[in-house]
Amino acid sequence: MLSLRNSLSLGLAILSTVHAQTVWDVTVGGPNGETVYSPTNINAQPGDQVVFHFNPKNHTVTQSSFAEPCGKIEGGFDSGFNPVTVGATDHPTFNFTVQDTNPVWVYCRQGAGTAASHCGMGMVFAVNPGADGSNNSFANFQAKALAEGAALSSSAAASSTVASTSSASTTYTAAYGNATIPPPPTIVTVTDTITLDGTTWTTTYGSYPGSPAPTPGSVTGTVHKVVVGGANLTFDPPFVSALPRDTIVFEFHQKNHSATQSSFEAPCVHADGGFNSGFNPVADNATTFPTFNVTVNDTAPVWVYCMQTTGGSHCGKGMVFAVNPVETSGRSFEAFQSLAEKLNGTAAASGSGSPSASGSSPSSTSQDSGALGLKAQGTLGLAAVSLVLGSLL
Ligand SMILES: *[C@@H]1O[C@H](CO)[C@@H](O)[C@H](O)[C@H]1NC(C)=O
Ligand SMILES: *[C@@H]1O[C@H](CO)[C@@H](O)[C@H](O)[C@H]1NC(C)=O
Ligand SMILES: *[C@@H]1O[C@H](CO)[C@@H](O)[C@H](O)[C@H]1NC(C)=O
Ligand SMILES: *[C@@H]1O[C@H](CO)[C@@H](O)[C@H](O)[C@H]1NC(C)=O
Ligand SMILES: *[C@@H]1O[C@H](CO)[C@@H](O)[C@H](O)[C@H]1NC(C)=O
Ligand SMILES: *[C@@H]1O[C@H](CO)[C@@H](O)[C@H](O)[C@H]1NC(C)=O
Ligand SMILES: *[C@@H]1O[C@H](CO)[C@@H](O)[C@H](O)[C@H]1NC(C)=O
Ligand SMILES: *[C@@H]1O[C@H](CO)[C@@H](O)[C@H](O)[C@H]1NC(C)=O
Ligand SMILES: *[C@@H]1O[C@H](CO)[C@@H](O)[C@H](O)[C@H]1NC(C)=O
Ligand SMILES: *[C@@H]1O[C@H](CO)[C@@H](O)[C@H](O)[C@H]1NC(C)=O
Repeated sequence: MLSLRNSLSLGLAILSTVHAQTVWDVTVGGPNGETVYSPTNINAQPGDQVVFHFNPKNHTVTQSSFAEPCGKIEGGFDSGFNPVTVGATDHPTFNFTVQDTNPVWVYCRQGAGTAASHCGMGMVFAVNPGADGSNNSFANFQAKALAEGAALSSSAAASSTVASTSSASTTYTAAYGNATIPPPPTIVTVTDTITLDGTTWTTTYGSYPGSPAPTPGSVTGTVHKVVVGGANLTFDPPFVSALPRDTIVFEFHQKNHSATQSSFEAPCVHADGGFNSGFNPVADNATTFPTFNVTVNDTAPVWVYCMQTTGGSHCGKGMVFAVNPVETSGRSFEAFQSLAEKLNGTAAASGSGSPSASGSSPSSTSQDSGALGLKAQGTLGLAAVSLVLGSLL
């Protein structure tokens, strides 16, 4: 599946050459149905192609105007609705060729005119918006969309409870087995100014309250060592909190393990496009240990398991790991581990039922932190460019 990791670009800054035609990959919605485009805006040249990849759940790519961010413009393009189920491997695309350097404004028209309006939740995108600080900046465009959403929800709250009833009844299920899973943590959109080593830039990102801010802590990042296997079927530590640019060094100890990326919905299945160390057999008398390194690109949760099944599924025995699980949400590390045990453990193998993984509801919303990714917008020419990620998708 399209994961947040792929969709996001921590300033994957690649300077475009003068004539090269660039392909811009933009994900529409997060992997769990989050209402975001990623990246949120691009600066493109005429002839460039924008490939929109649809994630769950049911979004559109529809052209609007700066004046009315959540209104379809006459003669504008519209992808129509593209329903995608959580965990699906097939992701439809919609393509747009950039005609000129004028701004192109885009929104998702799901729930248009209601409190559930995706546009009203800030699900907007732009090609060539005005510079930060100018009237028609992306931040101003998105702020207008959010203001429209706020007006819609307050009028809905005043007149009916239909919207809240329907959202409360949304249930999430695991991609295999038979389990109800907690909803993903709620994402809010944040615009922030980052200063790092004397460089300052503005970012717009989807934030998970309760997880770290998506701002690099340092240029080179911190190294987090994780011991895989050895005496026990564990990743040690079982989860870490990491910032963009940090490195996770998986160090393989005795037996024969892997560090393989999965998803919350399918904890013991290799996620499409996710990283995978492969098996790392280590002899009992070994004194040096192989490593596998993963760079952290954003602070969206990353779920990992050991794919060894000889002698019983390691994942089903709880051998899982996470980067930046939102511990204040239903999708904590502990919830992930118990879901893996339920779906791939001995209970699942013997076919006996067990209670579904339970989740507490997200609590803290006071903090704006955590992220889907960084959209760097340069005051120092840090052009935010996310391109040609197609091969990863
Ligand atoms: C970060 O991006 C790189 C390059 O695209 C990729 O190899 C790596 O797996 C990503 N990290 C995570 C945690 O997904
Ligand atoms: C997608 O959303 C549209 C508009 O709300 C709706 O008409 C359509 O039935 C939805 N499709 C699915 C499969 O949910
Ligand atoms: C969009 O372009 C991509 C890459 O060029 C291609 O793989 C895809 O099929 C196109 N999608 C549509 C709907 O034409
Ligand atoms: C930008 O907005 C301000 C305040 O609304 C207005 O006075 C100004 O004329 C606008 N500038 C442009 C270039 O539209
Ligand atoms: C899933 O589990 C529920 C409750 O344990 C049960 O009622 C239902 O029949 C199960 N569905 C399938 C397809 O096994
Ligand atoms: C393995 O697990 C046992 C029992 O939980 C514990 O006492 C021991 O310290 C663990 N060993 C390592 C190397 O973590
Ligand atoms: C490691 O595990 C894999 C998968 O079970 C197996 O194919 C491979 O032969 C094992 N390697 C060694 C050296 O045991
Ligand atoms: C480990 O044991 C094997 C045979 O059991 C031997 O061939 C190898 O040299 C030993 N390795 C080390 C590092 O002692
Ligand atoms: C992983 O990073 C560590 C520390 O930066 C380094 O020592 C090790 O060689 C790296 N491993 C790989 C496979 O690149
Ligand atoms: C977990 O269970 C699923 C569904 O039965 C299976 O496809 C997958 O290979 C299992 N993974 C592991 C690591 O046990």
